Amino acid sequence: MNLERRLEGRLVPLNVLSMKLTRLSIAAAAVLASIAAAMAASPESPVGAASCSGCHPARPDLESAVPRLAGRNAADIVAQMRAFRSGQRAATVMDRIAKGYSDAEVEAIAAWYAAQQ
Ligand code: HEC
Repeated sequence: MNLERRLEGRLVPLNVLSMKLTRLSIAAAAVLASIAAAMAASPESPVGAASCSGCHPARPDLESAVPRLAGRNAADIVAQMRAFRSGQRAATVMDRIAKGYSDAEVEAIAAWYAAQQ
């Protein structure tokens, strides 16, 4: 009797602890899953490319409402980005986005998109 009560007293906190651990591991799994999803586009994607691939898919076989960049000529992507940045080419969003990237970043992102087949 006494032993049972004492065990019960210990089991309850253990259950609470295990629930907390489960919640913690679910949260950790969610974080890991989102990191894995971000990396799935390409393990070597350069800095900034993930912010482009939300609108311009990294895979050429994916349907997209915005112009396709995957598999495109890198020099062409760089030229378009410069035209957006200077205002030479009118845009809805790309003029503002292009201003946030240096030439070196755009060149790396363009080379990465060109390599996506
Ligand atoms: C919010 C969605 C969005 C994001 C994010 C985005 N783009 Fe765009 N992109 C567009 C749209 C829409 C167009 C068509 C031009 C316009 O209306 O701005 C476009 C056009 C382009 C073009 C011209 C393509 C062509 O066929 O002429 C290039 C190059 C380009 N984007 C590169 C990039 C790069 C590089 C990034 C990341 C630094 C990026 N975009 C991020 C939506 C986006």
